Formats: sequence, C-alpha cells, structure tokens
Amino acid sequence: MSRYGGYGTKGKRPEDLRGGVIEIEDPDDRVQSPTTFRPDKLRRDLIQDLRSRKGRESDRANQAFYDALLRAVQQKDLGVPPFPTTALKLDELIRKDKEATGRLTTLVDKDPALVKAVWAAARKVADDKQPKTLEQAIKLLGLDRLWKISFRITTESPVFRVRGHEEKSDEIRTHGILVARIAGWMGDHGRGVHYISGLLHDVGQLVILHAAGKTRGVRRPEVELVNNLIDQHHTALGLLIGRVWRLPKSVSMGLGFHHHPGAAPSDYRGLCKILQAADLAAHAASERRRRATPVAETALRNVRGLPLPHKDILERAMRLDQVIRGEHRAA
Ligand SMILES: [Fe+2]
Ligand SMILES: [Fe+2]
Repeated sequence: MSRYGGYGTKGKRPEDLRGGVIEIEDPDDRVQSPTTFRPDKLRRDLIQDLRSRKGRESDRANQAFYDALLRAVQQKDLGVPPFPTTALKLDELIRKDKEATGRLTTLVDKDPALVKAVWAAARKVADDKQPKTLEQAIKLLGLDRLWKISFRITTESPVFRVRGHEEKSDEIRTHGILVARIAGWMGDHGRGVHYISGLLHDVGQLVILHAAGKTRGVRRPEVELVNNLIDQHHTALGLLIGRVWRLPKSVSMGLGFHHHPGAAPSDYRGLCKILQAADLAAHAASERRRRATPVAETALRNVRGLPLPHKDILERAMRLDQVIRGEHRAA
C-alpha cells in the first residue's frame, strides 16, 4: 500500500514556523526533511543516525539491512544505478533552442530505447506518409510529445526497478508519474522543472529499497523498519542523489523539501509547495478511489497560497489517477 506523511513540523526550523510558512495540519508527523543543505554534513548525519539505530537493533536481518544502507550511504553513487541523462539533456536543448532538430536527432540517436519509442509513436500518428528518417519521425511528433516520451523512458530505467521489491518500486514509479503530471499542470504547463521534480520527488525511497535488496542475510528486513527509514530519510537521500546525478538544483531541492516547503531555501519554496500539494492530491485521489479516510485530502485543503483552487487540483488528480492506472494496465 502506498504510504505518505510528513505534513507535520519535524525537520523545520523555528523561523519557518514563526513566519507562518507552514500552514497545514499535522495528520502524520513521521516524515523528516533534511536538516542541512550541505551534502557532506548530510551524509555524516545519516551515517551517525544509522549507526546508532543499528546499535539498538537485535534482529540479524534488520542489522544486515542497516549494514547495506550504511555501505550505500558511504558510496559515492549511493548504491543506485546511474540516472539516464538523455531526457535531461533533451530538456536543456529544447529550452535553449527549439529549432535544433539536427542536434536533437543526434541526441535521441544515442539512446536505443528512446529511438525505439520515437519510431513506435511516430508510426502511430503518421497517416499514409510514414517517416523515413529519425529526424522526420521527431518532426512529426513535435517537441512536446518527444519531451514526454523521453521522460517516460526515464521511468523505465533500472533506477525504478528494485529486485525483491518490485511492487513497492513500481508503486513509487507510478506515484511519481501522477505527481509529475499534477505538478506540471499546476506549475509549468506540463513540461519543465515541476514535472521533472514531481517525477523524481520520492526517488530517495528507492535508495533505501536498493539497499534493502542487497542485504546479505537469509531473511529480508522487516517491512515496518524499511518504511520507517523511508519516512525518516528519503528526503535527505533525495537531496543527496540529486547532487550525485547532477540534477538541476531546483529539482534536488524539490526532492529534499517536498514534505516541508517552509524549510527549503526561499527561492525554492514555491516549487516545493506545488510538489507538496501535488503529492497530497495524488494520495487524496487514491483515498477517494479506495473510499479511505480522507487524511491527505484534509491536509491538501489546509495548504494555503496555491495557484489554483483545492477543488480543481483534486478533480484533476482524480482524472489523472484514472488515466495513469489505465495506461499502466495497458502497458
Ligand atoms: Fe516523499
Ligand atoms: Fe510522494
């Protein structure tokens, strides 16, 4: 099942609370946000916390999980496969020069999975005049569609597939796609930093799952422990992985502060607030579908200063939730 939380006050600095930046209720105060923006200090704090937790742990499988996570945190790449960079490069290229079809084609041509997806999509939209070259296929699709295809391919990378934790990692992937679409719609019309940050906002959870998949013990760690560590550390790990993958700074900040926008540096609070609302809306849509208690919906209604009415955000989230679930079933 999908879990969420972090609408509370943990991890926030006193000045943020005094300034009234945090305006939402506290239905679930388990999730923390990074306590520093400095990667070295963040890593050191994480290592210290994990070591002291491990010291209190008596179960051998759980201890092996702590060891795997400690190894991952001490590795430069955090034990996660490299991030596929084509989509980000393509995003940058389109932003700089919309007419650069030749350079776009060269970039797409280097990524076999993207080439395959571009051809498949172009053949679908072409009428009787099928494209003969990759450049023609790209022109036929247009930049918007090409951009979306490239980011969809990103979510199919090994980063989002964790052996032994297929269901949970797939849930994080699908949830990311939904949050991306809601945040993109709210923030930058479906293409840009809001979409990208939404897509990757919970990627810190995957760092923990990758580590959980590498335990050398006979048993897996307890689900409750894995979920607990996800709540405690996925935002700090998100901030770190953003730096490791050289994601734009705004995206890294979104990964770190989507649960507590008020704790983000002031330039990024607007983005983080939209991510927070999109995240809550995605969970609220799921609650509605499951006829569950509207915890996230209530939290969403308490977020002030959003660019759109709560009702519109929730309706959009419910529609997109249906669409994405349909696409997921068809895939
Ligand atoms: Fe999160
Ligand atoms: Fe989320």
